[in-house]
Amino acid sequence: MVIKKVGIIGCGLMGSGIAEITARAGYDVLVTEVNEEFLKKGIARIEASTQKAVDKGKSTAAERTATLARIKGSTKIEDVKSCQLVVEAVIEKMDEKKRVFGILDAACPPETILASNTSSLSITEIAGSTKRPDKVLGLHFFSPVPVMKLLEVVRTIMVKDEVVEAGVAYGKAVGKETVVCKDAPGFIVNQLYLPYTLVAIRQWERGLATKEDIDKAMSLGLNYPMGPFTLMDFVGLDIHYNACMSIFEETKDPAYFPPPVLKKMIQAGHLGRKTGKGFYDYPGK
Ligand code: 3HC
Repeated sequence: MVIKKVGIIGCGLMGSGIAEITARAGYDVLVTEVNEEFLKKGIARIEASTQKAVDKGKSTAAERTATLARIKGSTKIEDVKSCQLVVEAVIEKMDEKKRVFGILDAACPPETILASNTSSLSITEIAGSTKRPDKVLGLHFFSPVPVMKLLEVVRTIMVKDEVVEAGVAYGKAVGKETVVCKDAPGFIVNQLYLPYTLVAIRQWERGLATKEDIDKAMSLGLNYPMGPFTLMDFVGLDIHYNACMSIFEETKDPAYFPPPVLKKMIQAGHLGRKTGKGFYDYPGK
């Protein structure tokens, strides 16, 4: 099936980034949010990011205008029924994912491909809750979506090969390098990345080094663009914690069990950059 129009469910940090790169690649995009206020915020994020791309010389003002013109918004999930591919990027809660996929399954024609951007929940469980498990796959983007080059394409034991191939082709069309991975908690990247960040927290807690020096060691010693504490603050400690817990709950592997300090920080509202405080302070945020 030829994909011309892509639906994006959720216009938060990930959904707005996916909408942006999809429209930039020439697809028509319909992005949905729960209400007008969130939709407005999401579209404003896309406007700011596409402006940054122009300022950085990655795109022209005319391309930006054309990209923005391809993006339409709605507060009704059902409106994506005219899309050939739908990418869900809502909150990382299984109940909510299933609710959204239930609406999509009922509204979209049977040939529509449904994808989830989840980083740690089971694609198999999401697919199994629909009447089209052979058309459901994972498309896991990384933050910030317009900049990060990778897309993990996640295959279940039910999905058809041509659906995986369509996911890979879409990833390439939106400018990403793709890797195909089986549906296993954390896929490739988060299985490597999450335990490493938790080791960093444990190193800091037992006084091995300051968090600044642990960050410095990883960014200069291994050429990581950000050390673990800076990156956790960037991603959001709540998102980080939920990703760790959902993998821990599924695998019972202690490597994913977050040190209690992470939960305490979340309870205190210290979620990272977005709240102005996480492992570091971000005055003015
Ligand atoms: N559109 C297109 N290009 C853009 C852009 C935009 N909106 N904004 C920035 N860029 C380009 C810039 O032009 C620049 O390109 P260049 O290298 O060719 O000059 C590049 O992107 C970097 O941009 P900046 O110069 O503005 O920013 P920095 O150099 O400070 O890098 C960063 C910022 C990209 C966030 C970098 O620090 C980084 O890579 N950090 C690590 C991010 C990471 O690991 N993300 C994964 C998080 S984990 C995740 O998402 C999984 C989840 O499941 C938990």
